Amino acid sequence: MALLNSPKTYGAVAKLLHWLIALAIIGMLAAGKYMTDLEIGQDRFDLTQLHKSIGLTILGLTVLRILWRLVNRQPALPAHMGALERLAAKGTHLVFYFLMLAIPLSGWALASASKYNIPTVYFGTVEVPHLPYISTLPRDEKKDAEDIAEDAHEMLANLMIVLLALHIAAALKHHVWDRDDVLTRMLPFRRHQE
Ligand code: HEM
Repeated sequence: MALLNSPKTYGAVAKLLHWLIALAIIGMLAAGKYMTDLEIGQDRFDLTQLHKSIGLTILGLTVLRILWRLVNRQPALPAHMGALERLAAKGTHLVFYFLMLAIPLSGWALASASKYNIPTVYFGTVEVPHLPYISTLPRDEKKDAEDIAEDAHEMLANLMIVLLALHIAAALKHHVWDRDDVLTRMLPFRRHQE
């Protein structure tokens, strides 16, 4: 399988980044909801540390993915798609990129605004600095920042759940209804006719 995208299909790098990020985000959405329902204690602390490490990894992979996309042509959309459907597809993808950046950044802001000043230790190795400005706010302003970041993180995560459902429904519609290659050209281990 080629590393680069071709005019008709995705290459190995784009596929790897797509599936790594997709699986990590789905796991993080479920684990995030589970974690915040736990009582304060060691389990919640450990899970939150893991959550922050995986979230920062998603942020890094998303930056790589955007750079890769900028230097790589995108496979064309099928000719049968009308202008409105093309616009919906491109709009959804743009919102996905926004959320893949905004969710981890709002989480980072939330961790930085915490009144307990809990360090973020990346997979138990190095300490990741808190975001500048937020972490040095006076106590009462920090509380406001924490509330805003918490609401934003939760709201954006909920929006991601809705968008994921639409994305999966659209991919299945292409496969089952339109019988085109929009789904299969992103599947791993699948050779594609050039
Ligand atoms: C794509 C990446 C991420 C996803 C999908 C995600 C998702 C979530 C979700 C669903 C929750 C629960 C929200 C709720 O219902 O209250 C949550 C909580 C939280 N997240 Fe994230 N998150 C991500 C990245 C991050 C990052 C990078 C950090 C910090 C560096 C972070 C820090 C937190 C914290 C501190 C909480 C609250 C924990 C608590 O209240 O005990 N998240 N996240």
